[in-house]
Amino acid sequence: MTWNLNTIIVGVDGSEGAERAARHAVDVARTTGAKLYIATVVRPPEGWWGIGGAPPTPEALSTALIEGQKEVLDNLVAALDLEGVDYETLQDLGDPASRLIAIAEERNADLMVIGRRGAGLVERVIIGSVADRICHHSPCPVLLIP
Ligand SMILES: Nc1ncnc2c1ncn2[C@@H]1O[C@H](COP(=O)(O)OP(=O)(O)OP(=O)(O)O)[C@@H](O)[C@H]1O
Ligand SMILES: [Mg+2]
Repeated sequence: MTWNLNTIIVGVDGSEGAERAARHAVDVARTTGAKLYIATVVRPPEGWWGIGGAPPTPEALSTALIEGQKEVLDNLVAALDLEGVDYETLQDLGDPASRLIAIAEERNADLMVIGRRGAGLVERVIIGSVADRICHHSPCPVLLIP
């Protein structure tokens, strides 16, 4: 079997760990010519899902959340050297691990790049819960950046 690296997803959450992951993803994309999706997922606040369990429309979310998310992506893209890289940014809403896995499935990703740690504040955690779930359930190989 040949492993053709055509599509790479990197998950970013505004953290240093995610930025390191993004730098690695950019290098791999540049070297291989793969398309790079830089994806960030906003987790709606607890209780947001309501009694019916219907997912909120992006329009229904507070502007602060949406703008914060856009800022995460804009700041990161500005900090990266994306010269010669075919990339696209993606914004999504929901449970970060589930959404990243869904994105990887939808785009038929060949590689998922994530940081070992993210924006969470729990220092004792060696590997973040999003990273942990992706490592267990990703449909494609995962590159975990320390
Ligand atoms: N909301 C998100 N959108 C996109 N990618 C994310 C998101 N959250 C985490 N990631 C990816 O997963 C990596 C690990 O983050 P994770 O959230 O697992 O760790 P943590 O924040 O330190 O711990 P926890 O969230 O469990 O408190 C990040 O570096 C990033 O690559
Ligand atoms: Mg986190």
